[in-house]
Amino acid sequence: MRTEADPPEVSDLPSDAVLVAEELYGGYVKGVDILHGVSAYVRDGEIVTIIGPNGAGKSTFLKAIVGLLKPRAGVVRFAGNDVTGRRPHELAQEGMGFVPQTDNVFPSLTVRENLEMGGFQLPKHRVEERIGELSDRFPILAERRGQRAGTLSGGQRQLLALARAMMPSPTLLCLDEPSAGLAPMAVVEIFEAIEAIREIGVAILMVEQNASVALGISNRGYVLDMGRNAHTGTGAELLNDPKVAELYLGG
Ligand SMILES: Nc1ncnc2c1ncn2[C@@H]1O[C@H](COP(=O)(O)OP(=O)(O)O)[C@@H](O)[C@H]1O
Ligand SMILES: [Mg+2]
Repeated sequence: MRTEADPPEVSDLPSDAVLVAEELYGGYVKGVDILHGVSAYVRDGEIVTIIGPNGAGKSTFLKAIVGLLKPRAGVVRFAGNDVTGRRPHELAQEGMGFVPQTDNVFPSLTVRENLEMGGFQLPKHRVEERIGELSDRFPILAERRGQRAGTLSGGQRQLLALARAMMPSPTLLCLDEPSAGLAPMAVVEIFEAIEAIREIGVAILMVEQNASVALGISNRGYVLDMGRNAHTGTGAELLNDPKVAELYLGG
């Protein structure tokens, strides 16, 4: 396991990493950095989870990766290309999906209409194909196709948000707290859906407060604290590290 004193080096990065975020600095106000050189990578086929205290900069790091926040310094490489500072819609076209923590579906639109919106840049026949494929994988989407998203349960709504982001067949999905606010049963279901998405071959980078459950399905994880990398390791290493458990997993 690495510590803060031993940050990831470019030379250590695996060649099959779909995403590399290297030493990102930046924030919301000029002269005030929230991120102080944060790094992470995601390989094909991995679920990678970022945990850490409230205000650690987890969402900010994710925003810098998906193009919602331009980093002041550092490099984001996606599918082998330097995409630092590129806009979210450009990154989406390259295959990077993003599901924000809130407002991730259109509540007044139906399930089907939300899926159509997710595939707006696809040819019409592909939209139908994708809705069919995703409905086969997640049958609740077919059962509820005519229902307005705002009337779904929390878990169903999060599943719809995931499916909407899956419409353009991304190679990487970035998720900000997919289990936030969900009842325990729904938390289990949403993590099962995320595992199913990994099985399809989509790499996942997620931020989670439900740290133990999330690390339980993760290939690797990172702990961020005060805008810096604090720990990294496999999901099991982080779960079994007494220091990580005490400080970040609630004892
Ligand atoms: N839009 C914003 N404008 C200014 N400051 C922000 C904004 N969003 C977050 N921050 C600040 O950035 C810091 C990190 O926030 P955030 O990345 O949301 O943390 P986390 O997701 O780990 O809880 C916090 O101090 C927060 O107040
Ligand atoms: Mg956050």
